[in-house]
Amino acid sequence: MKGTGLKVFALISTAALIAATIDLNNLDNYSDEPVPGYILRDNTPDENQITDQGATLGRILFYDKKLSANNAVACASCHHQQFAFGDTALVSLGHLGGVTGRHAMRLVNARYSEESNFFWNERASSLEDQTTRPIQDAVEMGFSGQNGQPGLDSLIRKMEGITYYPGLFALVYGDPGITETRIQQALAQFVRSIQSFDSRFDAGRAIAPNDGAPFPNFTPQENQGKTIFLAPPAQGGAGCQGCHRAPEFDIDPLSLNNGIIGVAGDPDAIDLTNTKAPSLRDLFNPNGQLNGPLMHDGSLKTIREVIDHYNQITVDPANTNLDPKLRGIPPGAPGPGPGQQLNLTDAQKNALAAFLRTLTGNDIYTNPKWSDPFDENGDLDLVGLTTATVHHEILRSVIFPNPLRSTFNLEIEPGNYDLSIFNSRGQLVHSARIEGNTSIDADAWPPGMLIVQIADRRSGAKTVEKILKVQ
Ligand code: HEC
Ligand code: HEC
Repeated sequence: MKGTGLKVFALISTAALIAATIDLNNLDNYSDEPVPGYILRDNTPDENQITDQGATLGRILFYDKKLSANNAVACASCHHQQFAFGDTALVSLGHLGGVTGRHAMRLVNARYSEESNFFWNERASSLEDQTTRPIQDAVEMGFSGQNGQPGLDSLIRKMEGITYYPGLFALVYGDPGITETRIQQALAQFVRSIQSFDSRFDAGRAIAPNDGAPFPNFTPQENQGKTIFLAPPAQGGAGCQGCHRAPEFDIDPLSLNNGIIGVAGDPDAIDLTNTKAPSLRDLFNPNGQLNGPLMHDGSLKTIREVIDHYNQITVDPANTNLDPKLRGIPPGAPGPGPGQQLNLTDAQKNALAAFLRTLTGNDIYTNPKWSDPFDENGDLDLVGLTTATVHHEILRSVIFPNPLRSTFNLEIEPGNYDLSIFNSRGQLVHSARIEGNTSIDADAWPPGMLIVQIADRRSGAKTVEKILKVQ
């Protein structure tokens, strides 16, 4: 059965698609990635659990420049795998060459946080909500629907006409319909799959009883840095753990701003709203280089500048949203305070920096499952785009002939089915209730790719096949 399905696809592939980089019959594992037992925070909503199909669609969407109005920019244009899905540019370039208002965030371990809001200022209430905002941003990807720009409905119509999308949506969702919710869910699944747990910190944490115990694989300096990170200032530490919480290194959802209130590209403006940071994992790449400037305004260029900032917080009188922990006065005391003074020695600063370097993994930079599936011409190589929720056993023989001319034949176990045939834009061209082997006059159907969906009325199971109609 499977062999026949592949042959059907081979015929289609010569017409529409090319060779193989993504094999839909042999998907990468996104749904069952190993997660260490000490990682407990997870913002995945029940209604959008990761599936291999969904995250694969998300990967294609993430790298597809056709999701921008002028086919120039994909999510990955600003979120580069080689920089832990961040950007080394202070601000990133949008589809028409404009720049973003803030520095692009690393997307590593976005899933493993208690904080479920996204963006530096938390304006997206979930990752799902976040994912279509860059697409609808006038500067970033240009489907804003404002000032003459096309809207998201235009993008959906555009995607309906792109050969691979209707079949891929059918693979994931059981029918080829493309909606904003489905785009959001697939993108969020892919982003949540990007995880980094192969750092030296993880190797040590796996064999230590808790975060605070010395890690046997660490140097004395790294262990000292870990203690400084974890301990509050009152106990001689730097208090980083109060907001960036090991072992996830996610941000405390209640954190206010950290005293960095600049605006990228506008020295006179201030912005008090930035109260979220991505996970502090993978600040550095495996070669020890920083994955871009730090903070929402990209104003800190080295980890030493970050540590110096927290060592001596300068309180701007206009900053009414500075986190109480950084005001340098006891909790609850009135006034903005003089700002936190940690008085760290040079050696302590170096130890803290050495510790932060242990949070870097390798896999996220190299694992092909998170890499660009498009070739240099922007073409996607897919194989096996034939089946969806494969309850294939009901089909005794695949739909034939393929390519289809005037008569459409289907051999199927006796049962009670809804047959629906869609064109490549997801529009219904034929529907019927069938109970077994079926032969239909297909003369009136449009030429091109057709998607055949058979839904078992009893179990709800759906089978989806692609077929080519020639004139
Ligand atoms: C033109 C550059 C650009 C493009 C294109 C872009 N982003 Fe971003 N991304 C950014 C910037 C800049 C931020 C921070 C913006 C802010 O907070 O105001 C960001 C933030 C994010 C965040 C928030 C991370 C967090 O921890 O809160 C996620 C998730 C994200 N982007 C995913 C995506 C996805 C998915 C796409 C494609 C649909 C995409 N981005 C396209 C630049 C870009
Ligand atoms: C009161 C909460 C709080 C404390 C304590 C705190 N941070 Fe932060 N941190 C934040 C917030 C909020 C941001 C995002 C700031 C922004 O860009 O506006 C941030 C950003 C960062 C960043 C930049 C992340 C990036 O992706 O650009 C680093 C690095 C960092 N903090 C390290 C530390 C270290 C090291 C300590 C301890 C010395 C520390 N933080 C203590 C709240 C805190």
